[in-house]
Amino acid sequence: MIADIVVDLQYGDCGKGKVAHALCRDNDYTHVIRYNGGCNAGHTIYHEGEKFITHHIPCGVFFGIKSIIGPGCVVHVDTFLEEIEKLEEAGIPAKELVKVATNAHIITDFHRAEDGKDEEIGTTKRGNGPAYRDKYGRRGVRALDDPRLSNYLTNIYLELYENEEFDNIEILFEGAQGFGLDVDWGDYPYVTSSHCTAGSALLNGVPPSAIRNIWGVAKIYETYVGAKDFEGPYDEFDEIRELGQEFGSTTGRPRQVNWMDFDLLKMASRINGVNKIVINKMDILDVIGKWHAYHGPHILEFKSRDDMEFWIEAKLHSEVNENIQLFFSGDKEYI
Ligand code: IMP
Ligand code: MG
Repeated sequence: MIADIVVDLQYGDCGKGKVAHALCRDNDYTHVIRYNGGCNAGHTIYHEGEKFITHHIPCGVFFGIKSIIGPGCVVHVDTFLEEIEKLEEAGIPAKELVKVATNAHIITDFHRAEDGKDEEIGTTKRGNGPAYRDKYGRRGVRALDDPRLSNYLTNIYLELYENEEFDNIEILFEGAQGFGLDVDWGDYPYVTSSHCTAGSALLNGVPPSAIRNIWGVAKIYETYVGAKDFEGPYDEFDEIRELGQEFGSTTGRPRQVNWMDFDLLKMASRINGVNKIVINKMDILDVIGKWHAYHGPHILEFKSRDDMEFWIEAKLHSEVNENIQLFFSGDKEYI
């Protein structure tokens, strides 16, 4: 069994959906497993030119790959079933391919209503925080106990380890949210309620020794959605927001924009142990024509895209790992 991980190095919305989709196209995965979060996530995927937004369902479905919502996730059953129907309508055989781990937890309507009252954190109001609280408080409801999911359940242990094809299993772990929103490493309390690091994938039933590649995903500028002040005082940010379509794919809220914080990228790269990094949305700054990044107390102003790419690559190689492979991307569907 081998596994790759896709993990976001900033605040979510960096293009994990795109990277996971591209990796599914180019590899022979037998399983795609979502490893954290719930329907707070919104993954925008362009499949054969058509736009899809998924909240729960991993992108393996677009390629006929078994797609599992792992035990690290929380599931809102109605949202999940609606998503299945939408994909089926678009000709994607989701009913056959999608499974929910028996030990994933359920987001109840009560959790939703409670999260709906949040004013401090700026949550997506999808019930995530209360569902994880009840999971850890040992009073949660698991997927196993919800009859509406009976056709979709899978026991991850049996699925992976009691499988005649064990030696040929190749898993893509698809993360949700991002490093800056991680419950331990993010800017607490302005975080989500799950672990958004590569380590979190391992909590879904796979040992560290199975891991092959860890794909970190970032953007050439940053965005954040939530209650804290994040946006810097630059005139370009309104234009970046419009050009980059930086509006929440789950809630429609405008995302706050800022320049890349290189120190965050470096920390996230170290803690996640990435060996590949995709930096997305290069096309947006190509239009804006400004190439800035925060580093320590400074704002760096690069002369050109090439200068910024060169600097980031050299810094990550000298300060994180000289073997990291970087991809700078400005395409919606391809890396
Ligand atoms: P929650 O995950 O709904 O509890 O929200 C906690 C924080 O994480 C808020 O700032 C949300 O805007 C943010 N958040 C949650 N999911 C996503 C996501 O998929 N993309 C970006 N931000 C997210
Ligand atoms: Mg998103």
